[in-house]
Amino acid sequence: MALIRLDKFLCGAASVTRSEAKKLLAGGFVTVEGNICRAGDMKISEDAAVTLRGAPLRREQYVYLMLNKPKGVVSASRDARDKTVADFAKAEFPRRTLFPAGRLDKDSEGFILLTDDGAFAHDILSPRRHVSKTYLVEVDAPLTEEMQAGFAQGVTLADGQGMLPAQLLPLGPYLAQVVLSQGVYHQIKRMFGVYGAGVVSLKRTAIGGVLLDEGLAPGAYRRLTQKELESLRGK
Ligand code: URA
Repeated sequence: MALIRLDKFLCGAASVTRSEAKKLLAGGFVTVEGNICRAGDMKISEDAAVTLRGAPLRREQYVYLMLNKPKGVVSASRDARDKTVADFAKAEFPRRTLFPAGRLDKDSEGFILLTDDGAFAHDILSPRRHVSKTYLVEVDAPLTEEMQAGFAQGVTLADGQGMLPAQLLPLGPYLAQVVLSQGVYHQIKRMFGVYGAGVVSLKRTAIGGVLLDEGLAPGAYRRLTQKELESLRGK
């Protein structure tokens, strides 16, 4: 069985932050195999008997992370050439196979959900669930009412594929918020392409009702909160 630092184990199993875990340990609230333990850096077995305030804790089954993807990184678990979104969390979770639940293009940035829970990813990506995705998009041609009406009605791509209705909210002459309820390869670029406009930059700012944490620098990530997870699960 793999070994894990006690403070890391606590963060996952008890859903607490690193500093909360430190306080709990310092306060003598944590036992390992029946003995009070105050050392966060102690290595324990992932199936060790750990209690918090007398209640047994179990290793968390899955991990759910919000990553602020930088440009130039591919949305995959592994890649022979490029850095991947999963690489950012590899050092902290070396024994988990994290993958992105939904993709962003290499030159796009913003909210990527990383997890090792396949059923969860499948559920939030399911076309039946219509979990919306919100983007901030800069284009190289002025936004028009024709685009707005076309997006609302459902754009037909150059190859004849019909897209579901989407929301296009102009924030400036070249800047818009776009909300999609499906995920098709290069969807936004192809939708604007129908109107002769090119995408200059694209950032995903929300998945469903969960907003990208503005405190996350490009390449930084954090765990999703219980509330955020429940909102994505539709509870
Ligand atoms: N649409 C695109 O064209 N690219 C993305 O990365 C996301 C949506």
